[in-house]
Amino acid sequence: LTVRASSYADELVKTAKTVASPGRGILAMDESNATCGKRLASIGLENTEANRQAYRTLLVSALGLGNYISGAILFEETLYQSTIDGKKIVDVLLEQGIVPGIKVDKGLVPLAGSNDESWCQGLDGLASRSAAYYQQGARFAKWRTVVSIPNGPSALAVKEAAWGLARYAAISQDNGLVPIVEPEILLDGEHGIDRTFEVAQKVWAEVFFYLAENNVLFEGILLKPSMVTPGADCKERATPEQVATYTLSLLHRRIPPAVPGIMFLSGGQSEVEATLNLNAMNQSPNPWHVSFSYARALQNTCLKTWGGRPENVKAAQDALLLRASANSLAQLGKYTG
Ligand code: 13P
Repeated sequence: LTVRASSYADELVKTAKTVASPGRGILAMDESNATCGKRLASIGLENTEANRQAYRTLLVSALGLGNYISGAILFEETLYQSTIDGKKIVDVLLEQGIVPGIKVDKGLVPLAGSNDESWCQGLDGLASRSAAYYQQGARFAKWRTVVSIPNGPSALAVKEAAWGLARYAAISQDNGLVPIVEPEILLDGEHGIDRTFEVAQKVWAEVFFYLAENNVLFEGILLKPSMVTPGADCKERATPEQVATYTLSLLHRRIPPAVPGIMFLSGGQSEVEATLNLNAMNQSPNPWHVSFSYARALQNTCLKTWGGRPENVKAAQDALLLRASANSLAQLGKYTG
């Protein structure tokens, strides 16, 4: 049926289904060294490889994490790293039943000719890097590009974001990695929810146009959208039910049912807000697995509880498991607070 199927087609479909399995979602722990440094600074720790390793060891070795988490997105350093007691991080994840994933984009830079907007680098050399990541045990990938509402978005920025995601998705599938397609529509701004809805429809229309043009196998991708919410500085707030109504309406209009999983980012929402919004979206059956791929909304309390002290590791892991289990229930539409 496809114009040019990847030789990995069957495996891609299987991997995507495993990640999009009932009651589970993704732990995004792929902060770049710069971003991880900011998180560590917030608890007074230096941004050293040893501190990053200690924190990532804590996360992946929380016992029972695999009951709620189906995939973990890693930064390149972590994919090749061992825990503080010398086990490969990838092996610890596999023992927990968690599929290892890898952030493959090279970050955002200014988009010349736009309204102070950005584009995402990383296509050069992506095929060979992806093949190496597969060898190392990664089975899915992530590429995060952003769209800003206050700065436009300009037609140029949307087109660039969509095209970059589509090229990345095709290259990932060619190398056995399920691409997570993430055009993050940033929360920043005073705009209302209707404006976010309008921009999201435009962005996803273009993303799917170029995914199709690049012969991407829809059954072998996962999406990572932002929920449709008012801008962070908008005075009118939205209830979880309103967020769910707008977001599901966006998905129904723009996302083919062939796509197995929609794994939302938390984007600066509070931990509880992110859980409530996900729960609201799962109150009736959806054509896709509607779940989470949270970083901050899974890790904030965990990180604070740890504070860099070995004696707090267990309590921090419990904090992580608490958020993971709450979001697992929300994936099933059964979260009650
Ligand atoms: P947040 O859930 O903190 O937005 O991070 C998710 C992520 O991986 C962004 O790419």
